[in-house]
Amino acid sequence: MGMKPKVLAANWKMNTDLQQGMKLAADINNKVNASGVEPHARIILGVPFIHLSEIAKIMDYRRFSLAAQNCAECDSGAYTGEVSAEMIKSTGAHYVIIGHSERRHIFKESYESLQNKVDVCLKNALRPIFCCGETLDDRKKEMHKKVVEEQLKASFFHVNEEYLMRSIIAYEPVWAIGTGETATPEQAQEMHEWIRTLLRDHYKNSNVDDVPILYGGSVKPGNASDLFKQQDINGGLVGGASLKAESFMSILKAF
Ligand code: 13P
Repeated sequence: MGMKPKVLAANWKMNTDLQQGMKLAADINNKVNASGVEPHARIILGVPFIHLSEIAKIMDYRRFSLAAQNCAECDSGAYTGEVSAEMIKSTGAHYVIIGHSERRHIFKESYESLQNKVDVCLKNALRPIFCCGETLDDRKKEMHKKVVEEQLKASFFHVNEEYLMRSIIAYEPVWAIGTGETATPEQAQEMHEWIRTLLRDHYKNSNVDDVPILYGGSVKPGNASDLFKQQDINGGLVGGASLKAESFMSILKAF
């Protein structure tokens, strides 16, 4: 068996103006390079669209990759206000967060739209960070496994094995996002194991252990190491705690 992949991804969401974002990125870059922590962890910063090309110029690309937080589902054309995968690629970014619960719930992104986004992303040599996760209501009804299975089957499992191996999955229970309430390591591991099983059943010829599955939802310096220790948790997708270089660094050290 190969080494467990390790990934720490930040999702800045709609925070920081360009100057603040540049400063935060530079700060993280310098701290990571000075510390020499965990050379095997891939670090991804999911920043606002307009930050991408500027931040790309200042990051050490041997350690960092950049991600957009969304992309248009069509290639190009008369779609005022949209940002295409091709445009994202041209900034130097390598990843796109797709299907974040905020996109699903606030912006009502459909299964079909997310499926298109996954395709357009992969076609443009970008790697999707495909998010899934249940609401509190789903969990109370014990539907969490079913809901995540449905989300994956509806918008992601159509990709072929080669594309699977370029992708990252993020499990983010909606009830744990920005609430300060984290899934316990056991709750998270149970869902990650479930996702790994679904991958194994669907992609019979692939080494699904090499597909990173990240946990997201109130990851903090104090809970990261217990989460990252779990067999099927390959790292985190971090919102709030990624907006301060110190806390992001502490989470990186938790691997
Ligand atoms: P928080 O870490 O702020 O809970 O956000 C998690 C998230 O949504 C990352 O995509």
